[in-house]
Amino acid sequence: MKRQVSVTIFGASGYTGAGLYSLCLRHPGVHIAALSADRHAGERLSAVFPRMAGLTDRVMVSVEEAVEQATEVAFLCLPHEAAMAVVPRLLDKGCRVFDLSADFRMDTPDSYAAWYKVQHTAPELLAAKVYGLPEFHRERIREARLVAVPGCYPTSVQIGLAPLLKHRLIDPRTIIVDAKSGVSGAGRKLSQRTHYVETNENIAPYNVGRSHRHVGEIEQELSKFAGEAVRVVFSPHLTPMNQGILSTMYVDLTQPLGTSELLDLFRSEYAGERFVRVLPHLPETAFVQNTNYADVSVHVVPDTGRAIILCAIDNLVKGAYGQALQCMNIACGFDEGCGLPV
Ligand SMILES: NC(=O)c1ccc[n+]([C@@H]2O[C@H](COP(=O)([O-])OP(=O)(O)OC[C@H]3O[C@@H](n4cnc5c(N)ncnc54)[C@H](OP(=O)(O)O)[C@@H]3O)[C@@H](O)[C@H]2O)c1
Repeated sequence: MKRQVSVTIFGASGYTGAGLYSLCLRHPGVHIAALSADRHAGERLSAVFPRMAGLTDRVMVSVEEAVEQATEVAFLCLPHEAAMAVVPRLLDKGCRVFDLSADFRMDTPDSYAAWYKVQHTAPELLAAKVYGLPEFHRERIREARLVAVPGCYPTSVQIGLAPLLKHRLIDPRTIIVDAKSGVSGAGRKLSQRTHYVETNENIAPYNVGRSHRHVGEIEQELSKFAGEAVRVVFSPHLTPMNQGILSTMYVDLTQPLGTSELLDLFRSEYAGERFVRVLPHLPETAFVQNTNYADVSVHVVPDTGRAIILCAIDNLVKGAYGQALQCMNIACGFDEGCGLPV
């Protein structure tokens, strides 16, 4: 390893920030400059996450102090709105920014306002950002100053559908996505919806149709692969597991292709991609838990002209902090898999 980069993690007391910190501890090219928290500012990370006792005695500082201390690389593991409040200042300081929030994923201020119901406070940066899905944007990530790390559901959906849309093998008006997520997808802050009693022994659909915020990002990015406007039907579900996403996608084929031909296409599209595994069998969340893998498979349903594509990821890892670290590795010249769990 040639050098170390100085990294600041904003939102270290949350699920994605703490997970990222754990990876950074083992990354030979990373020096941690500062960790931030909001309600927990001034506390030790090991007090907030007792599993870290003995691993670190770092004290988290306020966002303001962390901005002061940030130098080379900043990871933002903050809620949307909080992220865009600090990104311009970090960029002005010369930091390379990897934002895990949704604040810079949309391409225009109007689409951001439409899906997030708030006006963007740094709209000029939306066009300058690079969308951080390495399997499709690796070369631009290399040069990026601001990387918008994709959402968890959008990561799974794009890995599942991009090969078929690029080759015009599916009718883009027929996409239905049925997705299940673990409860950590909602973050660590308490809410009635994610209370143990509400989630245990339960599968709860929510925001079905086109109302989930991730639909905007999914449609925006799928439209680029398709070369035309894509609309999806998207039904997310909260499931009683800590981590994991399984997206099951139903599409109409434009050609009479079989399962083995489509699996060959996926293998060829993802050849050399170490974090995408094209499986001949059905993906499951347990196979990817705590890893940066996206497991994908495709199955043609005989006599229907339809195919089912399944993609499993860990929402916190490939769906968030693992993908962010993968982007940082690319941008800072490290081996792309450095520090990433497989
Ligand atoms: N969870 C996932 O699966 C997932 C996947 C992809 C993307 N993301 C995105 O990643 C970001 C972080 O998610 P998470 O699940 O890690 O959330 P989380 O567990 O709720 O953690 C949020 C972090 O941000 C801090 N924070 C909260 N409000 C703040 C504010 N107004 N100003 C400054 N800091 C504030 C919190 O500090 P305190 O703890 O001290 O309050 C905490 O450190 C979100 O934008 C989320 O949408 C999450």
